[in-house]
Amino acid sequence: MKIAVFGTGMVGQTLAAALFAKGHTVTIGTRDIQKALANVEPNGFGMPGFGVWHKANSLINVATFENAAAGAQLLINATNAASILKILQDIPSSMTDDKVLIDLANDLDMSNGMPPRLRTSDVVGQSIGERIQTAFPKVHVVKTLNTMNCSVMLNPTLVAGGQSTVFIGGNSATAKVYVSDFLKTFGWTDIIDLGDITSSRATEMLLPIWLKLWPVMGQTPYNFKIAR
Ligand SMILES: NC(=O)c1ccc[n+]([C@@H]2O[C@H](COP(=O)([O-])OP(=O)(O)OC[C@H]3O[C@@H](n4cnc5c(N)ncnc54)[C@H](OP(=O)(O)O)[C@@H]3O)[C@@H](O)[C@H]2O)c1
Repeated sequence: MKIAVFGTGMVGQTLAAALFAKGHTVTIGTRDIQKALANVEPNGFGMPGFGVWHKANSLINVATFENAAAGAQLLINATNAASILKILQDIPSSMTDDKVLIDLANDLDMSNGMPPRLRTSDVVGQSIGERIQTAFPKVHVVKTLNTMNCSVMLNPTLVAGGQSTVFIGGNSATAKVYVSDFLKTFGWTDIIDLGDITSSRATEMLLPIWLKLWPVMGQTPYNFKIAR
């Protein structure tokens, strides 16, 4: 499948590599290709700068957001939450009704250092998933994967032998089946459909507890599991 991953950060890098390893044709979107490739500084979590990462993953295409989206069947939003509406507004011709957009963003405030804080007042008003869906009513937005570390998103067997939970939410039943089937190809088995795109308020609101668990868990990969 042709997939556009929006985002050159640690999430974009991790997902693009996993998608490519699975045989998908992946293009990473960025504002400025040359600037992204020139970035060799590791991030705060020890992930390489995008330029270093891309040298080791040179078969993965890098393009502007617009060119990455063109022709892609699936778009994955792995950008800074504050920027996604502007990115999509700049590529209106790609916001068509044949596109499914996975949104995994969380609106985190990094201004006071680590751990970041969730901008809860914004989520209560309207989550990122809803804001994207409202701004681009034709695109089928599916909120998923935002409640776990990026290392787990397409590698669920890292946690509890693959038995942890991933939530999905969105207005299109067809798009949710499409995304569920896509997630299953990576080993997800416990996929819970929370309903329409308003459910992204709930999954974005899980972040405070996820962030509190982070220092407690240390280096151990973890995720939520709905026991029943
Ligand atoms: N880290 C995790 O494990 C994890 C888990 C769950 C959810 N998430 C969510 O995943 C998303 C990606 O996280 P990340 O740490 O990989 O990346 P990030 O640093 O939050 O974002 C990087 C991307 O955002 C773009 N960007 C930043 N400011 C922009 C602006 N003003 N205009 C346009 N684009 C802008 C960058 O574009 P350029 O390439 O042009 O610089 C880059 O591609 C976030 O929403 C985060 O909350 C992360």
